[in-house]
Amino acid sequence: MYKDILTAPFLQEMCDTTANLYRLGWDERNGGNISYLLSEEEVKKYLDIAHVERTVPIGFDATALIGKYFIVTGSGKYFKNVKSKPAESLGVIRIAADGRSYELLWGFEDGGVATSELPTHLMNHIQRLEVDPNHRIIMHCHATHVIGMTFTHSLDEVAFTKTLWEMCTECIVVFPDGVGIIPWMVPGTDAIGKASAFKMKDMRLVIWPHHGIFGAGTTMDETFGLIETAEKAAQVYTIVCAQGGKKQTITDQQLQDLADAFGVTPREGILN
Ligand code: 13P
Ligand code: ZN
Repeated sequence: MYKDILTAPFLQEMCDTTANLYRLGWDERNGGNISYLLSEEEVKKYLDIAHVERTVPIGFDATALIGKYFIVTGSGKYFKNVKSKPAESLGVIRIAADGRSYELLWGFEDGGVATSELPTHLMNHIQRLEVDPNHRIIMHCHATHVIGMTFTHSLDEVAFTKTLWEMCTECIVVFPDGVGIIPWMVPGTDAIGKASAFKMKDMRLVIWPHHGIFGAGTTMDETFGLIETAEKAAQVYTIVCAQGGKKQTITDQQLQDLADAFGVTPREGILN
C-alpha cells in the first residue's frame, strides 16, 4: 500500500517553504514558484507511478529530463494558500518520453497546471545538473529589496555582486559565484528560460530586473538560504542608501581574506 502523500517530507517542505516566502512578503498573490527534483524511489512510496492523471505539453525540448520527477507549484496558485490547499496548489509531475510534455501523477486537483515559469525551471535544472549532480531545487520569488535595487543600482552583474558582497560579511561565503543578471524580459517564455539557464552555468542566483530572483541548490534550506542572504544584503543596501550612503565598507582585501578563511573561490573579475 502507498503512504499518504500529504505526510511526504518533500510535500511538507514545499508547504513550509511557500509559507515562509509568503510570510516574508516575497510572494504576493501568485508570485513565485518552486520545483523540486525527486527520485523515483521517493515518489513510489506515495504514488502508483503507472497511473497518470493527465498529460500536459511543455512547449520546448526537455529531452534531458525524460523520466525525471518533480514536485512543482501550480500556475496562478497563491503561496498564502499552499499549506491549506496542497492538492490544488502543488503537482507531482514526470517529464514524458517525448520530452515535450509532462505527466501529472498527483495534484492540481482543480484542473490546474504547473507554473508558467516551467521553461525557466526545467532549463535551469538541465543546466545545474550538468555542473552539479546533487542539484535538486529551483526557487523563484519576488524578493522585495532585490527588486528595489534593480531600479537604483547599475545592472552590471560584476558591480551588483560586489555591492551585495560588501553589504554583509557572510555574503561572499554564501554566494562566492556572485549573481547573474539578465536583461528585462517577458516572463513565462522560453527566451527568458534560455537566458536564465545560460547564467546558471556559472552561478546559482539569477536576478530578473524589476521582477525577482531565481536560486538553485541541493536542498530546500540551502536554496532558501541563498535567496535570503542576497535579499538581506539588498535590504542593507536600501538602508545604507536611505542613511546617506557608505562612509566605509568591507575592502576588497578583506573580502579576499574572508574567502581564504572560509575556503571559497570568489568569482573572477570582481575583486581588485
Ligand atoms: P505562476 O503563478 O505561473 O507560477 O507565476 C508566478 C510568477 O512569479 C511569474 O514570474
Ligand atoms: Zn515571478
